[in-house]
Amino acid sequence: MLKLGVLASGRGTNLQSIIDAVKAGELEAEIEVVISDNQDAQALERAAKHQIEARYVGPGNYDNIQDFEQAIIDQLERNDVELVILAGFMKLLSPYFIEYYQSRIMNIHPSLLPAFKGLHAQQQALDYGVKVAGCTVHFVDQGMDTGPIILQAAVEVKEDDTEESLASRILEEEHRIYPAAIKLYAEGKLEIEGGKVKIKESL
Ligand code: GRF
Repeated sequence: MLKLGVLASGRGTNLQSIIDAVKAGELEAEIEVVISDNQDAQALERAAKHQIEARYVGPGNYDNIQDFEQAIIDQLERNDVELVILAGFMKLLSPYFIEYYQSRIMNIHPSLLPAFKGLHAQQQALDYGVKVAGCTVHFVDQGMDTGPIILQAAVEVKEDDTEESLASRILEEEHRIYPAAIKLYAEGKLEIEGGKVKIKESL
């Protein structure tokens, strides 16, 4: 069974969608540990509620970023985590961490990458005036919101959308494609070739 470790800084609705997919038997994987850099993250409560190990790793408790990341790696290793899931994790990971889990870290971003990287992607989409927005699940490389794209979903932008209304419609799609992308990984259907993800047909 695929062992997951989830890193989350906030409310954890994407974490919840993964928990739900596992519970429903749609995703054959197990969330071994949820780690947060924020003691008050709702994600930690969600984990605890579902008897998943919940760990706070506070960056302020370490002298430097490397020690902080090593503490996270130690928790992941202790749990034999194979795939690291970033679900609203607000810290940028260093090349050391990325290399340690090379091609084994996924992230979700609320835009159709490569458009609108970084914070407030939904507001960026509104400001630009795009007619179609969406979300992207991708493998993490050393850039910010870059790396081979696994799945995307499009959402129509409405004339009267606000950041909140657009974000909430995109979020619904996030909750659908994140578990789906992890499922593809769990089934061994993802292959990275020349910086692109190929989804293999059923084995
Ligand atoms: C989501 O919009 C996700 O795309 C972005 O951060 C947000 C996390 O939301 N990376 P949640 O904590 O999963 O509810």
